[in-house]
Amino acid sequence: MKKYKHKKSKCFNSKYKKFLLPSCIVKIFYNILHIVQLSIILLLHLLLNLKDTYTAAHCIRVMRLAVSFAEYNNYTFTQIKILKYSALLHDIGKLLIPKKILAKNKKLTHEEYAIIKKHSYYGYIITKYIVGKNIEAEVIKHHHERVDGKGYPDGLKGNKINDLSKLLSICDAFDAMTSTRSYRKKLSFEDALIELQANAENQFDKNILNKFIYFVNSKSNSCITKKIKPE
Ligand SMILES: [Fe+2]
Repeated sequence: MKKYKHKKSKCFNSKYKKFLLPSCIVKIFYNILHIVQLSIILLLHLLLNLKDTYTAAHCIRVMRLAVSFAEYNNYTFTQIKILKYSALLHDIGKLLIPKKILAKNKKLTHEEYAIIKKHSYYGYIITKYIVGKNIEAEVIKHHHERVDGKGYPDGLKGNKINDLSKLLSICDAFDAMTSTRSYRKKLSFEDALIELQANAENQFDKNILNKFIYFVNSKSNSCITKKIKPE
């Protein structure tokens, strides 16, 4: 039996060897693919910057924050790579949202809010089919889900939401609260952490949020006068 197996694999190798590409060609192919993907990502981000400067800058800040948190908590190299592209592209779906809604300084109407909520699904489509990154597309699709199931687009609950989307949603909310918009002042790091903690039960994952609070406290001694303790 063993002899037969050996003969079969030898026979297979010789038969199909001519169809196998040398590893250096495969490596070159993947490098070219990576460069093409990076160019598409940069182009998309440039387009987002032309449409909505605030959102483009917000995506870069969220990427830095999420990667820094992941490195601090010893996430794997692969997880950090996924997080980097997911965070940079998390609001890329806003390219398909009308500019007058994105730039509106007043409270959004019910209809306008329904339109803006579509950006996470549009981001999923763009990342999956234009950039060609499937896992990152899934992370982006669920960055507005809530642990109580009241988020969008799928209303996923608790453990059904992947951990990278949960982390992205915390970084997204923290940056949104600590940056200035034309219609409101920014919150201090301390107030933003209090706000996040107030939503720990229904919106954010409690374990990830506690680690995030430790992380922000450890990185910003000079910015936070009274440190917020994780629950
Ligand atoms: Fe978003």
